[in-house]
Amino acid sequence: MLDKLSKWKAKAEQGKEIEGVNLENVPKHVAIIMDGNGRWAKKRGLPRIAGHREGMSVINKIVKKANSLGVEVLTLYAFSTENWKRPKNEVDFLMRLPERYLSVELPKLIEENVKVRLMGCKDSLPAHTINAVDNAIEKTKSNTGLVLNFALNYGSRDEIVSAIQQIAEDVNTGKVNSQSINDELVGQYLMTQELRDPDLLIRTSGEIRLSNFMLWQLAYTEFWFTDVLWPDFTEQHFLEAIEVYQQRTRRYGGI
Ligand code: FPP
Repeated sequence: MLDKLSKWKAKAEQGKEIEGVNLENVPKHVAIIMDGNGRWAKKRGLPRIAGHREGMSVINKIVKKANSLGVEVLTLYAFSTENWKRPKNEVDFLMRLPERYLSVELPKLIEENVKVRLMGCKDSLPAHTINAVDNAIEKTKSNTGLVLNFALNYGSRDEIVSAIQQIAEDVNTGKVNSQSINDELVGQYLMTQELRDPDLLIRTSGEIRLSNFMLWQLAYTEFWFTDVLWPDFTEQHFLEAIEVYQQRTRRYGGI
């Protein structure tokens, strides 16, 4: 008897759909604001870090699902430039998560052809965090499947300010002609560089805001918000978000 995955694959090969998802209209770049870890822990009388630990364990399921559906880029907001305001023990714990995650999952990511990528300001990250991520980037650099883009110490306004500074510098040195500045050129100075803009943004935990996340890149992105807390987020919720996305008509300002 075919297991569930084989059934999905069999259906996929017919070129139609997997569990209600039309494989011909899968969002190519999905960005997720993984919110609600603290509340998940609080509801259970646990310390906040227990919520982050549980949140980390969700990532793998979503990476697998995204990869199997043909999503090309999955961007995960793991730590914002504002998250440094949290208590030291929580920040320290969050900074340990990439290496914890990668120490277990990197072999699987390599096997699944996933390419790890980082988006954020490396300068203030601890060496152990950078080393773990750099090692994963190096080991997966030739992979051609899903790009797993971790937003770590990322803030969109910082990103835009730094892009403006670099463009100004390049104008001053004659590398860029100010008349040729357009949205494509600006995009090349952002931390997403070669990546296409997200097609779908998911935010969990019932918060309806962007929290300084990809403000430039989300200009024409479809948003899907859910009350589900990130540690409770499942593949089924991910599929639901994609189904809703597929019901939307994207007009990019046209009619
Ligand atoms: C927001 O929830 C979540 C974060 C700031 C951290 C998210 C990180 C993970 C899910 C794991 C990252 C793992 C890797 C491998 C990088 P919150 O703490 O603000 O929740 P609350 O709003 O309920 O307090």
